[in-house]
Amino acid sequence: MDESFSEKEISFIRSKLGSRYKEVSEGPEGLFQYPVGEEGLSTLGYPKEVIESLPQAVRSGFCGVGNPFSLGTLEHGSKVLDLGCGVGVDSLVASTIVGPRGQVIGIDVSEHMLHRAEENRLRSGGDNLRFVLSDVESIPLKDRSVDVIITNGVLNLVVDKRRVLEECFRVLDDGGEMWIADQVLTDDGPLSHKDRVRQWAG
Ligand SMILES: C[S@@+](CC[C@H](N)C(=O)[O-])C[C@H]1O[C@@H](n2cnc3c(N)ncnc32)[C@H](O)[C@@H]1O
Repeated sequence: MDESFSEKEISFIRSKLGSRYKEVSEGPEGLFQYPVGEEGLSTLGYPKEVIESLPQAVRSGFCGVGNPFSLGTLEHGSKVLDLGCGVGVDSLVASTIVGPRGQVIGIDVSEHMLHRAEENRLRSGGDNLRFVLSDVESIPLKDRSVDVIITNGVLNLVVDKRRVLEECFRVLDDGGEMWIADQVLTDDGPLSHKDRVRQWAG
């Protein structure tokens, strides 16, 4: 879809996302039209042993829409970027897989979600994991510094999707991969431009 947004619309969308994810950071139960928390993880095929390795308080904050780990195999020692990490569930899963020689960076634009992510990191270990407050439209990493980018339920919320993909190509190393789990429209959808802006992020 080729669609552009005015400065006023962008600022409305950002403010709506800010309040929405402040609320979600308290617990996503009942706020989405798909299963979240532990039910979401099992419905999406995260292995039982992976789910059980996460503390209950961590599982409950999951609000992804797919399982990016179903799209490839992470190696020990890899450097992984989790775009729009939320409370950090996929980041924590990745940090266990890549091990102490690897590194995981989770970025998110919501300070409230990141606060929960940091609490979850402290609960679960994860010395090879750090969380950074940032918009995915401007990734705070050097060129070619990442082996794998994972993202789960985030790109649909981003205004400038082209800009995010350009940033991903910039930070991915040669041969790097991006595993995207997201919602997509297969046509222009039932909403007018005005309603799309009004209903952004549910
Ligand atoms: C549906 S939640 C998914 C969270 C996490 N990936 C998961 O699977 O649990 C969407 C997340 O994207 C973040 N987000 C939305 N727009 C963003 C942007 N432009 N830059 C960074 N994060 C963003 C929100 O703050 C929220 O944490």
